[in-house]
Amino acid sequence: MSILHPWTRRKFLAASAGTCAWALAGPAFGKDGAPAPLPTATLNRTGRRVPRLGLGCFPIGQLASEEAAAAVLDAAIGSGVRYLDTAPSYARGRSERRVGSAVGRWLDAHPETSREEFYINTKTLERTADGARRELEQSLERLGLDCVDCIQCHEVHDDWPKLFDDDGAIAGLEKAREEGLTKHIGITCHRNPDFIKSAIERYPFVTALVPINPIDVQHRSFVRAFLDFAVAHDVAVIGMKVFGGGFLLDRTDEKGRPLYTPGELLRYALAQPGVKVCVPGCERVEHVRVDVQAVRAFTQPDAAWLAAMEARAGPHEGKSTEWYKDD
Ligand SMILES: NC(=O)c1ccc[n+]([C@@H]2O[C@H](COP(=O)([O-])OP(=O)(O)OC[C@H]3O[C@@H](n4cnc5c(N)ncnc54)[C@H](OP(=O)(O)O)[C@@H]3O)[C@@H](O)[C@H]2O)c1
Repeated sequence: MSILHPWTRRKFLAASAGTCAWALAGPAFGKDGAPAPLPTATLNRTGRRVPRLGLGCFPIGQLASEEAAAAVLDAAIGSGVRYLDTAPSYARGRSERRVGSAVGRWLDAHPETSREEFYINTKTLERTADGARRELEQSLERLGLDCVDCIQCHEVHDDWPKLFDDDGAIAGLEKAREEGLTKHIGITCHRNPDFIKSAIERYPFVTALVPINPIDVQHRSFVRAFLDFAVAHDVAVIGMKVFGGGFLLDRTDEKGRPLYTPGELLRYALAQPGVKVCVPGCERVEHVRVDVQAVRAFTQPDAAWLAAMEARAGPHEGKSTEWYKDD
């Protein structure tokens, strides 16, 4: 499997000169002085074992400078993050280009490592076979890869039956998988758990990206209504909205103290049944460092701790709380 187009490598090696932040993340050191490794989990039917902290790469596309994006990606990869979540719709492909460049940079600098260590996930909003195929080919071009590890049908809602039309996205993606353009096919949903459950009843998606956080339980809950179902269907759950897109970190109690720390929210999400990896989005290297340290220190909490996290969330205020769910 090839890694990167040479032009991409050159361009980003130049762009990132002097910005290598691989050493910045951590430290949470073991007895021998080496950084404690991130805990790992197997992504169910994929058979792939990956570190439980991934990187959500929507903000990677948003960042104005190549250097800033490279610094965040390099900090995450240098700390052991291997699950990278991107999409063609993230800044019109800029996220994918930057992810591909960062993986190439890492592999060039560490010839002892291999592409197979990474789990690179992209997505498609297309619902037709031709559209999904075309979008996957464009993603591969931008990532500089021959094959992604997974392509997820992105943001399914009440349009989910279209995926299964004779000329629907699943037909196109299955053909692409047969031809070696993707290893796996997954799905994402944040509006309503009923949609993703219906789609999974119809087709054996191997991964599912859904919101996982303590306020989720109050409205159209993926934690309550989807996770046991996912476990029963052997679907690897990937947690997004772990920080509610950021708003849960801004919530304060009556004394103005933060209601949650990033570490508590990551612990809550990773403790849920079936959740294998979380993909927080980060624009800042300092945030990558905090998230890495929190996941390195992960221990499974008891039910009382999880219930207390949910009780702390405060009142649900509809769209201003979870704008990404249906009313
Ligand atoms: N439908 C879909 O498929 C879908 C939808 C949404 C998201 N996603 C994926 O999920 C990823 C995450 O997005 P999300 O919407 O779920 O957001 P999120 O991860 O819940 O929250 C991201 C926010 O948390 C902040 N943050 C991260 N670590 C922090 C720390 N240690 N301390 C303080 N703040 C911290 C980030 O700040 P900074 O940016 O300033 O670092 C950012 O504002 C996206 O990048 C994307 O890959 C997928």
